[in-house]
Amino acid sequence: MIRLRLLPFACLPLLLVNSVVAQEKKDKLPDTISYYKDVRPIIQQHCQGCHQPAKAQGGYVMTGHADLLKLTVNNVAGIVPGKPADSEFVKQIVGEKDTKPKMPKGKDPLSERDVTIIKNWISQGAKDDTPASARLLAVDAEHPPTYQGAPVINGVAFNPDGTLLAVTGYHEVLLHLADGSGLVARLVGVSERVQSLAFSPDGKWLAVTGGNPGRFGEVQIWDVAKRKLKLSLPITFDTIYGASWSSDSKYISFGCADNSLRAIDAETGKQVLFQGGHSDWVLDTVFSVKGTHLISVSRDRSMKLTEFATARLEDNITSITPGALKGGLQAVDRHPTKDELLIGGADGTPKLYQMFRTKDRKIGDDFNNIRNYGTMPGRIFAVKFSPDGTRVVAGTSFDGKGEVRVFETTGKPVSTLKGINGPIYAVAYHPKAAIVASAGFEGVVHLNDATTGALIRDFVPVPLKK
Ligand code: HEC
Repeated sequence: MIRLRLLPFACLPLLLVNSVVAQEKKDKLPDTISYYKDVRPIIQQHCQGCHQPAKAQGGYVMTGHADLLKLTVNNVAGIVPGKPADSEFVKQIVGEKDTKPKMPKGKDPLSERDVTIIKNWISQGAKDDTPASARLLAVDAEHPPTYQGAPVINGVAFNPDGTLLAVTGYHEVLLHLADGSGLVARLVGVSERVQSLAFSPDGKWLAVTGGNPGRFGEVQIWDVAKRKLKLSLPITFDTIYGASWSSDSKYISFGCADNSLRAIDAETGKQVLFQGGHSDWVLDTVFSVKGTHLISVSRDRSMKLTEFATARLEDNITSITPGALKGGLQAVDRHPTKDELLIGGADGTPKLYQMFRTKDRKIGDDFNNIRNYGTMPGRIFAVKFSPDGTRVVAGTSFDGKGEVRVFETTGKPVSTLKGINGPIYAVAYHPKAAIVASAGFEGVVHLNDATTGALIRDFVPVPLKK
């Protein structure tokens, strides 16, 4: 059972090896081009965002080998094996005379090396060398994932009106009725790993971050009512974390494994902020109440304050004295109406901070710390305020077990949620009721009464293969 649960992660070493091999090969072109090893990564990184079943621009799907050979909306063949010059794919990535190539649309053209790989592969017959094992795992909106065991859950979120609960799966996000009584939609995208999700405050959009480790990161924006993919943006070469919206639902921030904090315009997908001040992965982000600032937490043990308009790093909110914080920070949330921040990380103690300094900075101070909550066993992976700001909730992982506790924001413990066994990686507080959703390693979603801790319901959010 455990082995099956780990299935989505089982391919990780393979991917890492592949990416190392790909790096080494950067200099010399292989004589025989492999679709699986050479061509597919280029398409995943530069094309699939706009050419997948969930969003097939130009009527052209590029997620599977067979799709590439099909006709586009203009009735021309994407690929004609042996004939690069007749293949629309090639025409689109090389510019005519002095014009910029049409594809990837609105982005930098492919490198000369990538173009040569595509052309040589087509000249050599455009063969499909996908291993049979990988073929079985191929997933897109037309081939949704099948599960033999429940996958690890990295994110859960209620939509603002409290009717839906979004849960991360493998290659997808599952939309459930908020009371756990039914699955209503499966949002399948190109990323294998889904790391975080966040509904826009106006409830119209769902931001999703993830990627394929060592290959590409991705931010997806879904139209919640239509269950349709609006944008898929490839960003960096590794998985993306910690999505958060500005309160006007215009911008999305997130953290990257290249140690950067970034934000995009949710309408256009254009990057509007880049801040490279962290020295390790940025795992979670949040906007200030008015959207003037962004807060980021990282494995580098720091919580940083960045001015949104200028991307200027303004302050370390937590103390940066070595040893002041034991281990990395994993999660941050902002009070619904005040510029106060709740953080959690490796030291197991949820902490409350003020965002802006009221005393001059002294090296190594921790003046911004308002309060620490009770220390929990293990590492904290998720923290959230209740929507009225009167309570906080935190979830931990330790020795293959997990715990979720609710506190008054003023400090008093309220409850320890019952019926939770495995490590917890995600928590969400219902927008209209005293209910907490939590999930993690075991792939089970728990709905608990936040006040008494009683388990109301638990369920596996994915359809399991019988
Ligand atoms: C940001 C979105 C986006 C990305 C990324 C993108 N495309 Fe497109 N593609 C489009 C749109 C939109 C169309 C429809 C035609 C148009 O609007 O130009 C299209 C059309 C096409 C067509 C059909 C053209 C025709 O005339 O039939 C091909 C082939 C194509 N794209 C190949 C690619 C390839 C190869 C890549 C990656 C190197 C890529 N696209 C990346 C948005 C995108």
